[in-house]
Amino acid sequence: DHHRVIWPFWLIFLSMIKIKKLCKFCDTQVTNCSGTGSCKVECDITAICPHANEVCVSIWRKKDNNVTLETLCYNPAHKLYGLVLEDYNNSKCEMKEKKGMGSEFFICSCSEDECNEHVFFTSYSLDSQVVSVILVSLVPLLVLAVLVITSFYFYRVYRQHHATSKRKKGPPVDFSDAHAIMMDDEGSDISSTHANNLNHNTELLPIELDVQVGKGRFAEVYRAKLKQGSSAGEQAFETVAVKIFPDEEYASWKNEKDIFSDADLRHENVLHFLTAEERKVQKQYWLITAYHPRGNLQEYLTRHIISWQDLWLLGGSLARGVAHLHSDHTPCGRYKVPIVHRDIKSSNILVNSDLTCCLCDFGLGLRLDNSLSVDELANSGQVGTARYMAPEVLESRINLENIESFKQTDVYSMALVLWEITSRCSAVGEVKEYEPPFGKVREHPCVESMKDSVLRDRGRPEIPNSWINHPGIQMVCATIDECWDHDPEARLTAQCVAERFSDMEHLDKLSGRSDSEEKIPEEISVVDENNLKKVEAVSNTNVPPEVYLTDCSDVCVGGL
Ligand code: ADE
Repeated sequence: DHHRVIWPFWLIFLSMIKIKKLCKFCDTQVTNCSGTGSCKVECDITAICPHANEVCVSIWRKKDNNVTLETLCYNPAHKLYGLVLEDYNNSKCEMKEKKGMGSEFFICSCSEDECNEHVFFTSYSLDSQVVSVILVSLVPLLVLAVLVITSFYFYRVYRQHHATSKRKKGPPVDFSDAHAIMMDDEGSDISSTHANNLNHNTELLPIELDVQVGKGRFAEVYRAKLKQGSSAGEQAFETVAVKIFPDEEYASWKNEKDIFSDADLRHENVLHFLTAEERKVQKQYWLITAYHPRGNLQEYLTRHIISWQDLWLLGGSLARGVAHLHSDHTPCGRYKVPIVHRDIKSSNILVNSDLTCCLCDFGLGLRLDNSLSVDELANSGQVGTARYMAPEVLESRINLENIESFKQTDVYSMALVLWEITSRCSAVGEVKEYEPPFGKVREHPCVESMKDSVLRDRGRPEIPNSWINHPGIQMVCATIDECWDHDPEARLTAQCVAERFSDMEHLDKLSGRSDSEEKIPEEISVVDENNLKKVEAVSNTNVPPEVYLTDCSDVCVGGL
């Protein structure tokens, strides 16, 4: 019984002793503690805190070079100097700075015996409120960013899938407006269409350069021998052309290589591309293509007077090459990225052995797909050769919103080339020496002098009356006139010009100057008149009433 009474009393006593903390308790003392790193409090008094739930507290203050440390026991349920003790469950006394206390003020609290004898100053002074304000404002932003990025990613995947399945369906998609191209086609099939764009072999092709055959703004062109293994001991070779870009013209090489690498570009009237190489040792970039011994059209026209048949071959093939570039579908109806050349001129056209044209020099070419960046579009205002620049290019007023605008500028330049070809055709009557369009203007006219001729004076190369005695030439001139219209939207499309040329096949036989005694072929007299319109386009011309042009206005005028 005695034990039963005494035992709970000791229990209570012991537990009271255990709960009460031992803390340094010297009130406020002057100290040497500098407020950085850690300090040992110089306090000789260790007190048993009067109340069970009190914890140990240390406070460091500095005001006017007067530095003090205060040590005490305190009940964390109450505010001390207006502050809530936050970290009293710690075993160490970690000082936190508090602002707005009238002096530099650090406080710490902890709950192990004499734990406020050693105080530790942390280097950062953000209090938890500041941290939580930062977190509260940053977290929603982060969540939003993650959401936006994820939705954009899924949107891209969806569009890519959508575009691929659309293309697989085959028939040409109507990309007649810029937004359709930019938005509907992801054009991200680059890896398959660009598979062959670079000779990735560590071994470069065995090529021996012969003579220089051309020089452009960015590169020089050489005739070269591509050596081929031969069992007979004698070395066989194929003649190729090598376009060599110096180190600093890397961008131009890359652009031309990327354009050429699209397998859909292949066409009999587009230069045949073999491969591209980085010749690191020579610090050069190469494009290896088919070689055309007849050289470029400008050189050819300078040296030759051509027949109507030659004009028809050259002009028709030029239009077909440009139409293929511009087209958004291959001859089989599969989707292809439309391309604009942006530097069509007679020196950028090679002559095939069958006297057809072959477009080359795609250094300024532009793929009109939705990989076009805003920068690329913005920088695409005025490029090309001033002599061949369309009025809207000279004025830098090209409508960047509509991809057809780029095609219309190519059509203008093509019209000048068609004029050059016509000017050297014997069917026009007396043929003068070759002169480039606006030949009177100095050798490399600048943009300003071309503006005077083309914009201020609305000038175009002359089409003398004497030219249009020949019905074929008459049709060609009417077509040229519609292609160099001041209004880009009124110009014909390259496809329409190609169709016009195919309609002209037999026109030589209508000509008084023709050597042929053949009659007008039947196709001409039976052509569906609903699709034809009388030639009216060429000003000051006497058009015989029996000559008709394909009326493209419903189907293929650039603006439609
Ligand atoms: N001039 C520029 N490119 C050429 C080529 N591929 N063949 C011949 N002459 C050229």
